[in-house]
Parts: sequence; structure tokens; C-alpha cells
Amino acid sequence: MQAHPHVKILGTGHAVPEKILTNADLEQMVDTSDQWIIERTGIRTRHIAAPGTGVAPLAATAARNALRDAGLEPQDIDLIIVGTVSGDYKFPATACLVQQQLGLERAAAFDVSAACSGFLYSLRLAESLIRTGDFRHALVIGAEVLSSQVDWSDRNTCTLFGDGAGAAVVGPSSDGRGILAMHLASDGRHSQLLINPGCGSANPPSPDNLHLHAIRMEGREVFRHAVAAMCDGLDKVLAKSGARLEDIDLLIPHQANLRIIQAVGKKAGIGEEKVYVNVDRFGNTSAASIPIAIDEARRMGHITSGQLVAAVTFGAGFSWAAGLIRF
Ligand SMILES: CC(C)(COP(=O)(O)OP(=O)(O)OC[C@H]1O[C@@H](n2cnc3c(N)ncnc32)[C@H](O)[C@@H]1OP(=O)(O)O)[C@@H](O)C(=O)NCCC(=O)NCCS
Repeated sequence: MQAHPHVKILGTGHAVPEKILTNADLEQMVDTSDQWIIERTGIRTRHIAAPGTGVAPLAATAARNALRDAGLEPQDIDLIIVGTVSGDYKFPATACLVQQQLGLERAAAFDVSAACSGFLYSLRLAESLIRTGDFRHALVIGAEVLSSQVDWSDRNTCTLFGDGAGAAVVGPSSDGRGILAMHLASDGRHSQLLINPGCGSANPPSPDNLHLHAIRMEGREVFRHAVAAMCDGLDKVLAKSGARLEDIDLLIPHQANLRIIQAVGKKAGIGEEKVYVNVDRFGNTSAASIPIAIDEARRMGHITSGQLVAAVTFGAGFSWAAGLIRF
């Protein structure tokens, strides 16, 4: 097979559950207020999946929307990668469930566990595999139903997260557009600062440890590292590509918290008008955050053909990533 020098995004799509959880709803559940949540996080609403519905249906809907946008059929796809830490099952991979829901039989399908960095990690893998020539068209999906892992009595975390999925169809590029540079990094020394300690082999489910099966977070520490890491990722992709900061038309930071987003823009030296924000409506959708934002920005005309977009993300692990993409 022929190796390809460049890989580009051919289409995007996203999907969120219908149900919207407002700050007023949360006021009824824990000791919090709309004012506190808006001031500290910028979040006003988030979409929440019905209990027990899993993440695969959302991922499959986002994938269908991306395929339609790309003008391709499911049968054109030979690789499916889903970035998620809230898959339907411990195994098999959610990517295999998406494959089944799309009616595909032979595409390679697997999940990537990199928390909020899951989409950019998956995109990097897809890019590498397509460049070898062994694969042609990949579905890269970031999808989460983190509401299934939230302790709804913990005000430190329950206001922050939302559910959703975003997808991109990627394939070979011959016009110089596409992924110009990517950077992936992790630092496992901080693994305990943002963690769901339950559900795995270290703490298998038992009637005594149900309290372990939920997200725990040292919010301030996460905040501090997030800003530094996302700025570092941006520096790295600019250096790798030779692009300049002023060449960037839109910065899409991981949508975790408005204050983190603003701090990244400020530290990086990018004006507010070039920094994409939708955390107010979606909350932190983890791996889905970047692809939902890319799709929304494209559909709203904030990303047009030829523009240079930087995406930066940070999450549990810690893991972080950045990508520079010419649309
Ligand atoms: C979680 C976060 C919003 C908290 O904001 P903060 O300004 O750092 O707040 P602090 O941690 O200083 O907590 C201040 C107080 O608010 C309280 N508080 C926390 N959540 C609250 C809520 N939802 N409503 C009201 N009070 C709350 C805390 O209990 C604390 O009270 P105390 O001083 O009596 O102990 C912030 O640290 C953050 O966004 N961190 C990053 C989280 C994130 O993005 N994680 C995912 C990354 S991928």
C-alpha cells in the first residue's frame, strides 16, 4: 500500500443527550449555588445521559454525523478509535460497539484511555496508521458518559462534568492541509490527583467499596498543572510545525473550566476573540470536549477552509496533548 505524507479531517459531527442539567437543578442536589458555579467554572448547563444508556449510542450518532459531513459511507471506514474512560463495558471496547451500530464488519476497532486527552491521542494514532498506508479512512471519536462516574453528593466534582460525543473522519491529504503537528505527553507521578479508583483490578467492585467508584479530584492542583501543560503543548506544536503564534486563527482549549481556558489564552498570548468557549453549555465532557468544539466551531463558521486551528488538552494521568491542524 502507498504511504501518505499528510492526513486531514474530512468531516466532523457531535451528539449530546437531550436532558439538560442546570445549575438550579444542582442547587436542589448539593450545597451549591448558580453564582458559585458560574464564577468558579463558567458552567451554566450540561447534558446528561439517561442512566444505563451507555456511551456507544452517542458515539455512533456523532460518527454518523461526521460521515455525512465527509460525504462517506460507513463501509469506507477501515479504522475506528474511541477515546473514552466511560465505555459501556470494561470490555469489549466501545469502538467495537460503535462498529456494530454502524453495520461495519472488518474495520479495526479499539479504545484509547487517556481521559480528557483521549481524542487528541486517538487522532495522533489514526494519523500515524493512515500515514503507513495500511489504513485509509478512520473514525476518531471522543465520547463520555462521565455522569455515570460522578458522586452526585460531592459538590467538588458534580457540577463540572457533562456527557457527549464528538467524531472526526480522517483520511489522506494531498493538498498540504491537515494535521501539521501533534504533541502527546504524560506524567504518571500525578495519577492520584484526578482518579476514579474503583471499577478496576486494584479495587474490584464489592459491597464494601462502592464509595470508591466515583471521580475524585484535587481541583486546585489540577487547575495549576492544566494551564502549564496546555501552554507547553501549544509551544511544542508551534516549534514542530514552524508556525507562529499569530498564524493561529482559533485556539480550542479543553473545555474544563472557563478560568482555565482564559488562563491558557492569556499565558499563551492569544486574544479572547480567538479562543473557543462552549464550556458554559456542555461542562467538561472529557474526551468529547475537543471534537464537540471543533464540530460546533465549523458548523457556526468559526473555522473555515484554510484556517489554522490549535487544540490543546489536559486530563487525568496526568496526560496532555496538542494538535495544529490546517482546515
Ligand atoms: C474545582 C474548582 C472549580 C474549584 O474552584 P476553586 O476556586 O479552586 O475552589 P477551592 O478548591 O479553592 O474551594 C473553595 C471552597 O469552595 C467549596 N466548593 C467546592 N465546590 C463547590 C460548589 N460546587 N459549590 C459551592 N462551594 C463549593 C469548597 O468546598 C471550598 O470550601 P472550603 O474553603 O470551605 O473548603 C477548580 O479548582 C477547578 O476547576 N479545578 C480544575 C478542575 C478540572 O477542570 N478538572 C478536570 C480537568 S480535566
